Amino acid sequence: MGRFSRCERITLKVVGIIGGPKNDGNTYRLVRAVLDGALDAGHTVVTWRLKDVYIGHLGYFAGETLPPNDDFEKMQADLESMGALVIGSPIWYGHVDTRTFNFINRTYVYNRSYSEENAKKWPKVKAVNVLTYETEDEHAYDHILEWYDHIWDWYGMAESQGLVAAGSAKNPVENRPELIKRAKEIGRNL
Ligand SMILES: Cc1cc2nc3c(=O)[nH]c(=O)nc-3n(C[C@H](O)[C@H](O)[C@H](O)COP(=O)(O)O)c2cc1C
Repeated sequence: MGRFSRCERITLKVVGIIGGPKNDGNTYRLVRAVLDGALDAGHTVVTWRLKDVYIGHLGYFAGETLPPNDDFEKMQADLESMGALVIGSPIWYGHVDTRTFNFINRTYVYNRSYSEENAKKWPKVKAVNVLTYETEDEHAYDHILEWYDHIWDWYGMAESQGLVAAGSAKNPVENRPELIKRAKEIGRNL
């Protein structure tokens, strides 16, 4: 064996983003389980709850898209240094919740349509897209997972993976050890 063991792993900064407003809701618990798996694997984790930051809306003036003055700046150091992204959202009216939707729009500053230079700063890493929702069909929101895939593909990310908790009203995440186990497994394999 050489100086470095073959099973030596690279430590990543895993950034977790939670869209729903609940401190201990389904979305938080499922994202948390992925992050716990990442911690088990020796990675570091940073959690951002979107309910605790103010993310504004893109503006437009004199032919230019204008980023708002908001808290996104506080998140940028973590985003630009992330080794993996875990983004979780409850489904609201058939799409990701409004905070997550607004956050995704706010990342436009890293979209190459906005700035080729900024686009280089967006890490080309794995994304885990977590959805929780009341509808019991496991595939009810596959189109939202595809929507994420298209966005992350455009951002050049290495991989985009979905994880869903369907039927969260009757069957909350906290009562689903198999699902939590799967989430941890995903986190361990980032
Ligand atoms: C405003 C609002 C809209 C919702 N819309 C949907 C929906 O369109 N489809 C669905 O299956 N569940 C819907 N739900 C249920 C949530 O997606 C579900 O309870 C989710 O797991 C909540 O996650 P949380 O515990 O992290 O808040 C909605 C809930 C709220 C509050």
